[in-house]
Amino acid sequence: MQDVSQRRATMLGFQPPAIDEAEIAAVADTLRSGWLTTGPGAAELERRMADYLEADHVLALASGTAALHLALVALGIGPSDEVITTPITWPATANAVVHTGATPVFVDVRDEDLNIDPARVSEAVTSRTRAILPVHLAGQPCDLDPIHALGLPVVEDAAHAAESRYRGRKIGGLSDVTCFSLYATKNIAAGEGGLLATNRDDVAEAIRDLRLMRRGDGSRYDLVVPGYKANLSDVLAAIALAQLDKVERHSAIRRRQFALYDEAVADFEGIEPLARDERDTHAFHLYVVRIDAESAGATRDEYQRALADENIATSIHFLPVHRLSWYRTRFSQQVPLPIAERAGDEVLSLPMSPAHSEDDIRDAIAALRRVHERFAA
Ligand SMILES: Cc1ncc(COP(=O)(O)O)c(C=O)c1O
Repeated sequence: MQDVSQRRATMLGFQPPAIDEAEIAAVADTLRSGWLTTGPGAAELERRMADYLEADHVLALASGTAALHLALVALGIGPSDEVITTPITWPATANAVVHTGATPVFVDVRDEDLNIDPARVSEAVTSRTRAILPVHLAGQPCDLDPIHALGLPVVEDAAHAAESRYRGRKIGGLSDVTCFSLYATKNIAAGEGGLLATNRDDVAEAIRDLRLMRRGDGSRYDLVVPGYKANLSDVLAAIALAQLDKVERHSAIRRRQFALYDEAVADFEGIEPLARDERDTHAFHLYVVRIDAESAGATRDEYQRALADENIATSIHFLPVHRLSWYRTRFSQQVPLPIAERAGDEVLSLPMSPAHSEDDIRDAIAALRRVHERFAA
């Protein structure tokens, strides 16, 4: 029988938003301004994010998914093309490829950080490859130099990497396009929303046409391309701007939460965090551990259930996309991806957020310690 006497009284949320009066006031001001849709707020977010991301252009969009999709459309990717990507990501990454009519080609990840393996990317290039779509998992930049060296267009999925630097260079202006998410759990969160960063004037121009129908000469509207409805409202831009003001403070809190977890899990046999490369700046977006069932005494799923019984919410980043029903039935001819497949059974993300106190994180650690002691006994 489990001893529940030490269990947290209330559920510790996995990644609750860190919202306070600043966001509430920003939304109220926007509503009073009369701008509900895309207006000066979205334009200000684009300017400030271009500075922050060190990119020539930033375009505000409805979601990270829309940013990925429109990036591929702007690069002219379509049916009969292939885009190489990682299976360890949120399905949106691969879905964006599918939405263009192109084929996602999954290649395996590196065991240490579960980021796409550049050597395998190079082996997967064919005459149909039109782009590479890597993901910076959890905030650790993937190894971009060997990917850029292949000479193909690169679209980075930087949904987890708002603060990241690769070898000192800010993620945002390093590839043809870099896509960010403003989803509720992200480091800069607006609830929903996305940002597309690029140094390419042609891509920025194409995205302006694709995200929202543009006016013609001012007297009549005109249409140059049958675009999408993927613009960001000023109400959401206001929240994102308030979050951007706090990015350094929030980052410091998350860094401290990582340090608390690092110190604790060092003692837990069979539980290992993903590797972080000291040459890079990590965005501390997700604290992902791998649970080796043999040495940790139980599977990831058993740990997750036991932590839920302890009132500690956790999450999984990620189940391999090629194993999800829709992809499994259509892409079964693709090569096995053993590292990703094993990782999909082992990864568990522990709760962290600037909204959590250090005591909250200590509660999560204490619960993990009790669960580990029980399973590993
Ligand atoms: C790695 C990754 N890519 C893309 C997305 C999609 O972003 P959005 O939810 O803003 O569409 C997410 C998560 O939301 C993500 O985690």
